[in-house]
Order: sequence, then structure tokens, then C-alpha cells
Amino acid sequence: MRSRNCIDADWLFHLASSPDVTEIPENAEWRKVDLPHDWSVEATPHPDNPAGAAGGFFPGGLGWYRKEIDVPADLGSRHMIIEFDGVYMNSEVRCNGRLCGVRPYGYISFAYDITQFVSPGESAVIEVRVDNVKQKNCRWYSGSGVYRHVWLTTVSPVRMGQWGTHITTPDVTEDSATVKCEVTAVNDTDDDADLELCALIIDDAGCEIEGTRSVSGFSIPNHESRTASLDMQLPFPRLWSPDAPNLYTLRVRLSKEGEVLDEYDTRFGVRTIRFDADEGFFLNGEPLKLLGVNEHHDAGCLGAAVPDDVIRRRFRILKEMGCNAVRVAHNPASPAFLDLCDEMGLMVVEDAFDEWKDPKTEFGYGIYWDEWWERDLVDMIRRDRNHPSIVMWSVGNEIKEVREGRPEGLPIMKALREVCHREDSTRPMTCGCCGTRLTLAAGYGPLMDVVGYNGGGGGCFDYQVDHAEHPDMCMFASEVPHSLQTRGVYRTRTWYRDLARRGEFHWYPARSFGRQIVSGSGKDAVYEPAPAIQDAIDVPHYTDEEVFEGVDDHYQSSYDNALVRISSIDSWRLTKSLPYMCGEFRWTGFDYIGECYGWPAKSWNFGVIDLCGFPKDTYYFYQSEWTDKPMVHILPHWTWPGLEGKTIPVIAYSNCDAVELFLNGESLGTREKGEEMYMRWDVEYRPGKILARGYGMRDAGSGRVTVECEHETAGDPSALKVECDEDYVRADGTGIAHFVVTVVDDLGRFVPHADHDIEITVAGPAKLIGLENGDPIDSTNYKLNHRKVFHGMMLAVVQARDEAGTIDVNAQSEGLSSGACSVKAVTDLT
Ligand code: GAL
Repeated sequence: MRSRNCIDADWLFHLASSPDVTEIPENAEWRKVDLPHDWSVEATPHPDNPAGAAGGFFPGGLGWYRKEIDVPADLGSRHMIIEFDGVYMNSEVRCNGRLCGVRPYGYISFAYDITQFVSPGESAVIEVRVDNVKQKNCRWYSGSGVYRHVWLTTVSPVRMGQWGTHITTPDVTEDSATVKCEVTAVNDTDDDADLELCALIIDDAGCEIEGTRSVSGFSIPNHESRTASLDMQLPFPRLWSPDAPNLYTLRVRLSKEGEVLDEYDTRFGVRTIRFDADEGFFLNGEPLKLLGVNEHHDAGCLGAAVPDDVIRRRFRILKEMGCNAVRVAHNPASPAFLDLCDEMGLMVVEDAFDEWKDPKTEFGYGIYWDEWWERDLVDMIRRDRNHPSIVMWSVGNEIKEVREGRPEGLPIMKALREVCHREDSTRPMTCGCCGTRLTLAAGYGPLMDVVGYNGGGGGCFDYQVDHAEHPDMCMFASEVPHSLQTRGVYRTRTWYRDLARRGEFHWYPARSFGRQIVSGSGKDAVYEPAPAIQDAIDVPHYTDEEVFEGVDDHYQSSYDNALVRISSIDSWRLTKSLPYMCGEFRWTGFDYIGECYGWPAKSWNFGVIDLCGFPKDTYYFYQSEWTDKPMVHILPHWTWPGLEGKTIPVIAYSNCDAVELFLNGESLGTREKGEEMYMRWDVEYRPGKILARGYGMRDAGSGRVTVECEHETAGDPSALKVECDEDYVRADGTGIAHFVVTVVDDLGRFVPHADHDIEITVAGPAKLIGLENGDPIDSTNYKLNHRKVFHGMMLAVVQARDEAGTIDVNAQSEGLSSGACSVKAVTDLT
């Protein structure tokens, strides 16, 4: 029978000491690591590192991993298969010194059958060479190493193939769903195999659902593979949706003369999707906007090595914002990420590539394109097509050939589309387009089932014109809006990135704002005013004179007035108002490392959530539009020593009908929520308490709901407060507890301007794996045990060992009373 185990624990790692070293030196020192592992994020960012701003100034390099595995003495005819969820990049895997295979693409999963290299009863050495020397090869922070899980499977020679099930649900009614499963199995023996194939469906309690069992004969000639198809009827299916992510398991058994040779489980969901050129997106027959964010794969201080619990927390934060969809920018996701999207209810657009043949960086994927594109795309789709969360396959992001309307991209797009349809006829294929004028004029439109609009090139100003000109085209905003905001930072004067000329940083010419490229590209681009809406989306300054003077230029305002082309509010208003727009995916949900504008920055501020997972103000704008649970949020905070008597614009985001604002108990008036989607008061600053009260709920009928949000002026920093996001943590060596550290005054009030250096100590069965503060220009090493709070807050990420007990986290800083918090590590947490 099949056994599949995660073999993340106890690897040895050696990092080449210089770019000239290409082989493991004889005297190499190896240190113990557990996977997932990213060696780049262990280093201190440095301006000379060749990944530059794209990689957040972290180093690449060459590294080797080794692990001894036990080969069972009774292996017999069984096979051993090692699976890698992702290795960045150019991996070469050896078993007992023999080459199993190479894989250039750092974001794809792959597996090797190592049976021929091992001997039963003896241990075998797996060695992985990871080559991330040639920089730049990515437009964002990639990380380096075996940064996703590794699995070891032993299984019968007659077995299910890799990703050997393909489950679809072609007919779904309230009473029943047809579950169709194509099963691909292999016969790695010298004899032909006459088998029995049996499939059945299991519910979430682990019980077989009556009436779903389907059995058929299945013959596979020796050393060949075959595909068989089985149909089942699932009575009264519980549909999958973001609100109710119901899942089932399909169990397939291969037996010979009554003996079960292999048993293989695949999780799936039942749901229908439809994209309509007039009416937008439908899930299970109901119209639903994709309320999405783009996400890169790193998680701040953990780099690319992101434990599953960290992804889980991030998704919880996104779901609380009302988000129902994620676009994976711009590469295949990890299996763990997609499993959690299924479980937690997030729809997914999975990008395969950021570039095709014409690379965006010197050593980018383009150099592997001809040899690898089909294999990588096919593998992504075969691995992922059973995830109910995935609603579209995206074959690219802002592909140069496409955005410049070059004819040589047309056959590529056609070939990519054919592969998508061949491998999965149930989902549309798309591409994130950067400006649609040239793309559509060159004939790319009909090659996409759904056209993705990125903001670049002014595409976000063209929805209406394009819809009028191409009424049969399905559309969604794959990457709009791009807005910037730094947690805790405010400016009352509007700032456009496209108009910002800041030293070397100059991504788009000023003239591109509100305009679109009509011919040429780069410096030769010719722009014309975008026809539709550019006048309407200009974000006026809040005040004639800047209220918040002296803010470092590296930080951006949280008033939704620091933007690339269109603000978050204007973008959502537009998407919401156009029924044919299937939804929008903002750039981004969380901040990410890399793609910054130059040293000393290692990241930028596109996220509405910072690298710690702390929401910024714009997060609450989305929450006010995308959720129903009554909420109100006001900005800015209310600790502004020196601004007494100045007028501060106070903004409220709320899903209530109206909000009343109070300063020190005195009402400053009630505002109704209107078309602007936010409420504003101009308040003369006096220290004290500013409080907003939300009344009633839009569309909620009768009933008067009251919610409040308040900020209170803080005194001097006095103490540290530590709180844990989790009640318990799993004591199996992988569980994560997130500790939030804040600076407070003597009355326990949050001090938003604090920037103390805090030392963290962890006692009990756990280790500190990273400190993050969300400051884009703090390049202190992430693995130290101290860091400055940024705007009064930081995060300590702690990993439990495989031992139950109490984990105590202590925070100390000179001049402040220390803070502490405990969490229980338990072994039986499911
Ligand atoms: C888009 C691109 C993203 C990111 C973003 C930054 O054009 O697709 O990957 O680079 O710009 O503004």
C-alpha cells in the first residue's frame, strides 16, 4: 500500500562561500536545517547584492542540501518516489550520487522515482544542488533553496500515476452532482495487469457516501500507463463557495485478484463557474464579483520559506477583509497554499509565467522558455486542476510580446491556450494584460477566454471603451488598483507614482498618467489621453498645505491618496458599477519583499496589509465594502503632539448607513455613506479621544446596529505589550505562533510613533524564526533576536518544537517595562 510522508525535518545544508565555488568543497561545513528553507532571507540585505532592488537586495548563491533516508528492508518490488513542491531554482537532485533530474523553474513541483538508485535495508543520500547564482532572474524576491515541502512515497509498482486523478463535476443540480473521474495508473512490472478499479466518495467526517461507489475492470500492459474514466452520482451535493468551502474526498483503489495494490485520495469540491461578457462572473449560478488581491509568495521575515500556519493566518486576515479571491503573482502556487484556499474559501487565479520568450530580467524564465514552457504549464495544471478554488488559469502577466502587440506572441498565446483547454476543459484561460490598446489591436483578444486588465499602460481606463468595442469579451481586473500606503503614515497631499521623479526610480513616464500607449513602447511609446474616465479619477489634495510635515519620502500616505494611476476607492467604485467586470484583484493584499525603488528599501508598500500581517487603513475600506458584519474604522490615529490647533482630515470607512464622529465626547456631526464610499470631517486637533459610531446597516432592513472605533492620544512610551494571535500551537515541529508586540503608555494606550529597539526571548519548546516590523527601509537582519518596532508595533514569529509545553515570549527594551505572553503547545491539535 501507498505511504506518503513529509520529509522536511533534519536536512544538512551547505552554502557556497563565493560565486567561484561550483562544487561541494571537501572540507565543506554542513549545518542542520528543517524545510521549508530559504537561505537568502537569513542574510542581511546589502546594496551590492546582484539581485538589486528587484530581489530586495538579498543575496542569491549556490547551495546544497543533503538528507539520509531509510530504505525499508522489505521494500520488495515497491517504488520510492521523492516529490519536491518547489525549489528555487535550477535544482539538480541526486540519489546516492546518481542524477535523478534537473528543473530550472523555481516555482514548479516535480518528482523523481529513485527506486533504481536505492538498496533495500540501506540508507540512501538525497542531495539537492540549488543554483540561484545568476542574477537577476526574477522581478521580485524569489528566495533561494528548498523552500517548499518535500515528500517521500513508497508505493506498489502498479499504482496511480503522479497527479493521476482528474475530477470534474459536469452536471450539478440540487439533488445530485455527476462526479467524473479520469484515473491514470501505471504498471511498472514485466507482466500485464488485469485490475479492478474502484472509486468512492468520502464526506468530511471520513465516511463513504452511500451510492457513490463505482467499479470497473482496468487492464494495463506491462511498463505502460492507461487512463480509465469513472462516473459517480453524488446525492444532494454541498456546493463549494468562499462562504461555505465544502469539500469531499474521492478515494480510488486499484486491486488485483482482491488484493488492494494502491489507494489514492483526492480532495475536490462541487461548484459551477461561468464567465459572461455582459453579466460578469457566476458561482453556482449566482452572480459574484471576484473580490481579490494579488499575492507574491514571501512572508516578510520568513522569506519564501513559509510554514503552512503562516499562510493560514494570512488567509484569515484576507477573509476578514471580505476578500474572496487571490491571484497568485506571477507563478504557480505551492500545493499547501492551494489546499488552504480550498479549505478556507478563496477563489484562485493561478499565473503560470511572468514572461514568455522575451525575458524581463537577464536570466529570467525566457531563457528556458523553448525547452520548458509546455512541461511546466502541463505540470501546473495537472497538479492543480482538482482544486475547487481555482477559477482561471493565467498563462502570463504583462507579457512583453502581448503588451507591445507583437505578432510573434500570437502563436505562443495560441499554443498556451490549447494546452490549457486540453488539460482542463472546465476553466477559462486568461492573461494579465498591460494596456489593451495594442494587445487587442494585434488580435490577442479572441485568444483569451477572459481578458485580464492590469493597471499598467492605462488599461484600467479602458474598460468601458473596450467593452463597447468588444461586446463578446469577458473581462476582469487582474491587477488593479496599484496604490501605496505605509502603516501609520499620513500625508494630506496627493502623490502619484507615475508623476514622481525620485532619483533613479522612475518606472513610468509622467505622461502615462491617465493616458494609454497607442504605439511603440518604453521610451518610444506614444501616449494619448485615455478616453473614458481620467478626469473623474484625479484624487484632489485634502488640504492646501501639508498637515503632516517631515515624513520620510520612502513612506506613503494611508489616506488612499498615494497611488499609481487610480485610487483604491475609485477603482472599486468603477468595478462595482460595471456589471460585466468579473471583479478586481488589487496590487497587493500583503506587502512583499523586493521590487522596491532602491537602497535602503528592501520592499515597498503596495499591500493593504503590511509584512507583519497588520492591516493598514485601506484594508478597512475594503472591509467596509466587502463585508456585512457591522464595522467602522477611522483614520488617522490621534497622537499628534505639535499639531494642536491644526485641522486634520478624519476619514471613516464603514458598512453602516451613517457615522457620527465625536471628539472628547462632543459630536462633530453625522455623515451618511454615499457615492464617495467614505465619510470625512475636518477636525481641529485637540488631544483626547476621537470616536466614530456607526448607525444602521446598508441593505440590512430594519434594526439599528451600532459599532464604534476610537483612537486616544497616547502619553509617553512606558511599557511593552505582547499578545499572541493563536490560542494554541501545534507541537509537531511545524506549528507557528504569531506574537504581536506593541508599545503602550502608562495607561496602556497604544503609542503610534514609538520606534524602540526590542529584544525578544523565547522560553519553552519553541524557537524564534523571525522578527518583522513592516518597515520597508529597515534592512536589519531578520534572524536577530531584536528589532525596532515600526510605528509602535512588530511581530515575533515563533515555531513550536515537537514537544508539548508552555511557550513564553518576553519583550524587553531599555526604559520600558517588559511585556510577556504565553501560549500552550499541544500535540493533539488538529
Ligand atoms: C505591475 C506588475 C506587477 C508589479 C506591479 C508594481 O505592472 O504586473 O508584477 O510589478 O506592476 O507596480
